[in-house]
Amino acid sequence: MNAIEIVPLTAAIGAEIRGVDLREGLPDDVVATIRQALLEHLVLFFRDQPVSDDEHLAFALRFGPLHISPLATRYQDSPAVTVLNQIGPRGEGADQWHSDNTFLAEPPVASILRAVKLPSIGGDTCFASMYAAYDALSPAMCSFVDGLHAVHDITKVMRKAIDAGHTTLDLAEMQRRCPPVEHPVAKIHPETGRKALFVNRNSTSHLVGLSERENELMLAFLCDHVRSPDFQCRFHWEPDSVAFWDNRSVQHFAVPDYDEPRVMHRVTIGGPT
Ligand code: SIN
Repeated sequence: MNAIEIVPLTAAIGAEIRGVDLREGLPDDVVATIRQALLEHLVLFFRDQPVSDDEHLAFALRFGPLHISPLATRYQDSPAVTVLNQIGPRGEGADQWHSDNTFLAEPPVASILRAVKLPSIGGDTCFASMYAAYDALSPAMCSFVDGLHAVHDITKVMRKAIDAGHTTLDLAEMQRRCPPVEHPVAKIHPETGRKALFVNRNSTSHLVGLSERENELMLAFLCDHVRSPDFQCRFHWEPDSVAFWDNRSVQHFAVPDYDEPRVMHRVTIGGPT
């Protein structure tokens, strides 16, 4: 194996990792280097990794237990590998800044996404640092969000998946299985101790303790705040590209600028959030 190389993409977020073959059983020191790089750069990119689903799962398992998403799509054979299969992605949910499955009391710690089929043009994914988003708030706004909680709800995500025909799951049943949960708005990352802004348009229904009018303004402000290019990097997928992000400190946005099939396989990792 070549020496592992970490090439940062922007000051705020993102690094390309070179010199590793994800099909191989990686030595412990390489896993430790990748884990540290994830904490420092928040999203890692790997090129030319023609991994099978089993190799994808084996790689994920080096970083923690698998997180099985309750939101299964109709394309997948295994509950552990979520298959995203889109052709007309606009308005389907991934084209909003979000972190995955925050409607759960314990959302995934990290996601590993692999390009299986790509449109001839378009379909990039943008990633944003929620540490940078929090740090860019004024001290007065930090005092406001520190200690504030928000409710996260599966309803909007489910409705979009059902309307787009991506899932055959029943909305009422999923609402029963996954009732609304609260998360801190400024969430402390359990490994770095840093605060990350943790609200998103897909799943956050309201800020606790605020009136409806206050929510209209303040939740919209916080969700819009994460969109600044200062916090972002943008990844152009190639066949066999892999992105590995920390779901606790990152939001992502799949650019819906294509109208050809795009198939992605996603494995998520559980653990302390
Ligand atoms: C996701 O929202 O997890 C998928 C992102 C993508 O398809 O690029």
